[in-house]
Amino acid sequence: MASITIRNLDETTKQRLRERAARNGRSMEEEVRLLLDGLETSATSPAPADSAAPDRAMPTLVSASTGGGSATIEGFPAAGKRVLLIISGGIAAYKSLDLIRRLVERGVEVRPLMTAAAQEFITPLTAGALAASKVFTDLFDREDEQDVGHIRLARDCDMIVVAPATADLMAKMACGIANDLASTVLLATNKPVLVAPAMNPAMWNHPATRRNVETLRNDGVAFIGPFSGEMAERNEAGKGRMAEPMQIVERIGEMLDTRPKTLKGRRVVVTSGPTHEPIDPVRYIANRSSGKQGHAIAKALADLGAEVILVSGPVGIPDPAGVETVHVQTARDMLKAVETALPADIAVMVAAVADWRSKGEASEKMKKEDGKGPSHLELTENPDILKTIGHHENRPQIVVGFAAETHNVETHARAKLKRKGADWIVANDVSPDSGIGGSAGGVMGGDANRVKIISAEAVEEWPELSKHDVAVRLAARIAAELAKRQSTA
Ligand code: CTP
Repeated sequence: MASITIRNLDETTKQRLRERAARNGRSMEEEVRLLLDGLETSATSPAPADSAAPDRAMPTLVSASTGGGSATIEGFPAAGKRVLLIISGGIAAYKSLDLIRRLVERGVEVRPLMTAAAQEFITPLTAGALAASKVFTDLFDREDEQDVGHIRLARDCDMIVVAPATADLMAKMACGIANDLASTVLLATNKPVLVAPAMNPAMWNHPATRRNVETLRNDGVAFIGPFSGEMAERNEAGKGRMAEPMQIVERIGEMLDTRPKTLKGRRVVVTSGPTHEPIDPVRYIANRSSGKQGHAIAKALADLGAEVILVSGPVGIPDPAGVETVHVQTARDMLKAVETALPADIAVMVAAVADWRSKGEASEKMKKEDGKGPSHLELTENPDILKTIGHHENRPQIVVGFAAETHNVETHARAKLKRKGADWIVANDVSPDSGIGGSAGGVMGGDANRVKIISAEAVEEWPELSKHDVAVRLAARIAAELAKRQSTA
């Protein structure tokens, strides 16, 4: 749909869009989609006061066709690993510069290798500057051979990524031809190889390319893309666009993820964010929850191999990668979605559910009547999701709740533990003057949290940590508890 819109634009607008997309390392369709998303968000649903704008450092996350990933900078699974990035000659080579930047900012060491044709599109100087690395270009470079050598280059890395991969390079790979540095390294390697093809749709659909792709897949080569969309050539569209840099980053993260999958085979339901309770067609009751903590927990549990269903209220952050996200507005919808997700092994209820909703939503906008003063808003109680799940006939083995408190944190949390039938309550002080997160204004909407894990037996105090670190620690703690229960069962 987006490509039709683009084709109908006048040349000047198209050029502006092209430049903007190139600057941001996105395709033109993704740029349009993000612009439209931005317009719709600001026009229809003003974000809660504190709701964080998506991390500026990773704007293309929303655009990943995997459903909006979250190859977060913090704790990227491939951090500290080395990727040999082979750039072959195609117009998509400019995107590989963005790929380098995004990998480097996630702690990945990138060694660029450029074919002669790639150097017609981008310079080794740019690739080298972004990677802070030497760029390898020539098979018979005496200096390179003494320095690293093509065999070592092929093996002295954790994986090889070919982006963009031309039809020509893929043909060489499929036939085992080794007549330049890129093809020689690809023949000599014993490491996993990920290929991101980019070519004209006619070339991608040609029987020769189809055969080569089949051969490479059988040889164990992994592919990402190509995807459909508008080509760099005028009036050309179809399948052949290289995957977006962030999609490639996410796949690299998955391929190099060696963390133990202690929750493999486990099903988890997580709630996150606020709920919006309508008053009339334009007003609603909400709270300051940003969803950051709940989303981070969902992601951390998925990173341990769990199948995670995240039931999220309206938030301004992207869906985490590798997690099935169900979007809801109200507490009643959230409860329905959570019950639908059962049976599950674990439930972590992080959402800041609105305790009350308006009794009878007005079907028309409520009008003020001059001189009559404010209208009376009658409230009724919402279902308590945690309490329902804590006492459910399909109760998960481990039920974890949160307690957002502004005073007497531990006492209130203990009462909640009992009342709601939870195994643990993660208690946090959400008062704006808690001092948590420095001057950032507290836990709600901020990036830091200081929690106490309260169970029937003990209270465990954790230091102030980033929400990401709280999530990782909590996920590991849940996995250990599940394993303990299994061994004593
Ligand atoms: N919770 C829920 N459904 C509700 C209210 C809360 O599932 N209707 C869950 C939250 O997700 C959290 C826990 O209950 O895991 C505690 O939420 P909190 O807002 O701290 O407590 P409340 O139950 O709302 O009690 P109070 O407002 O009196 O502190």
